[in-house]
Formats: sequence, structure tokens, C-alpha cells
Amino acid sequence: MENKKITICMGSSCFSRGNKDNLKIIQDYLKGVDGAELLLTGALCQEKCSQGPVIFLGETLHKEVNPDHLPDLLQAYVYEDLGREDTGSL
Ligand code: FES
Repeated sequence: MENKKITICMGSSCFSRGNKDNLKIIQDYLKGVDGAELLLTGALCQEKCSQGPVIFLGETLHKEVNPDHLPDLLQAYVYEDLGREDTGSL
């Protein structure tokens, strides 16, 4: 599996609009993922505040990310190659 990058906007608007909670969800999710090369980074304001909170999964910008659908987004992103590779026990 190739390296995957998760970039969460830590600007004040996104942080207060939900990325504070989303960050914890991502950190908890990463603890339970085996065999994937994942890199979590924070970013300054991405100038999309009105559409925040925003998170990049790879190069793809996700807007208005809420804690209810974030786990599904992460799962889809982390295992998007599943159909082509044997990643073990899913
Ligand atoms: S604070 Fe996240 S886009 Fe501005």
C-alpha cells in the first residue's frame, strides 16, 4: 500500500467548527490501522473557511467534514486500493 497523507486544517475557523473533534477521531482511527503507511499533518488556514471544517485526504479536499461521516471517509481513503491489493483481514 502506498503512503497516504491526511492533512487537517488547524486554522482557527476550522478548528472551532469541528476539526478539534475531527483531529481526535483521526488520531484514534490511526491507532487502529495496521499495515498502512499514514502521515497526519496539520495545515494553516486553507482559505476555505466558509466551507469548513476542511480536511485533505491525499490531494482531495473534503469540505464540511463532520464527525459522523469522517470515519467512513477515512476508511474509504485508507483502503481505496483494497480491490487491487490483498491487505489482509478486512
Ligand atoms: S481555517 Fe480552515 S480553511 Fe480557513
